[in-house]
Amino acid sequence: MRIVAITNQKGGSGKTTTAVNLAAALGEKKRKVLIVDLDPQASASSWYAVKDGSRGLLDVFVHNTPLSDLVQLTQASNVEIVPSSSWLVGAEKALAGEVGSETILRRQLQLLPPDRWDYLLVDCPPSLGILTVNALTAVREVVVPVEAHVMALDGLAQLLKTVEVAKERLNPELKISGILPCRVDARTRHALEVVEQLRERFGKLVYRVIIRENVRLAECPSFKQPITEYDTRSYGAADYRALAKAVIKQERS
Ligand SMILES: Nc1ncnc2c1ncn2[C@@H]1O[C@H](COP(=O)(O)OP(=O)(O)O)[C@@H](O)[C@H]1O
Ligand SMILES: [Mg+2]
Repeated sequence: MRIVAITNQKGGSGKTTTAVNLAAALGEKKRKVLIVDLDPQASASSWYAVKDGSRGLLDVFVHNTPLSDLVQLTQASNVEIVPSSSWLVGAEKALAGEVGSETILRRQLQLLPPDRWDYLLVDCPPSLGILTVNALTAVREVVVPVEAHVMALDGLAQLLKTVEVAKERLNPELKISGILPCRVDARTRHALEVVEQLRERFGKLVYRVIIRENVRLAECPSFKQPITEYDTRSYGAADYRALAKAVIKQERS
């Protein structure tokens, strides 16, 4: 099972859009996927019309409830989800000062049946708090969606530094699988320049695939469908299928 955090502390980068639609595109290609919605705002859960899991995920952190008790089906084929809990906003406070609180999620993931899923995708909250640190401690890989805007680049440097520190102190096997340019408006010079800058600075770490700005992607949460079902011929569907292909190709490396 590949365990991947989709993370960037900046809100609006495209994390949830990527978690939901990459999962669906991987599912189309017969990969079994579990999304863990670690954002208290529960956007991935609500995208899949799965109800907020009440205290659910908070109890995984504070009372050792097994994560597998919370798994729910989605209507996308081969995609299941552990819904978020709005109670997770309390996680920071509940875990403050607890010894070993960074490793709770890692220990939980070790208890999951190893062969049930091919991919576990963690949709991270837009902050570098205890939940994101738990994700960085629990996963092997990180995918970083970056909005194609110059303002997003400073935040990216900070995130990469955090990943480096997490690797050093908590998770030596952690690696960045790719930086993903998102919301690329190919009609503007600015967006293409930002993608160019990313490639200059980070080279091969940047996926060749870019996710273009596509209004269909912004619409589909209201229809409770991933883009591959909502508008299977849209640019958005094409881009997330291309990403799934690139991610699957990495299975061999
Ligand atoms: N490629 C895209 N084209 C159009 N809108 C997008 C695209 N990616 C994301 N969005 C929109 O941008 C906003 C932020 O995206 P989201 O995935 O929720 O970011 P995050 O989870 O990082 O906060 C949402 O309203 C979403 O619909
Ligand atoms: Mg989100």
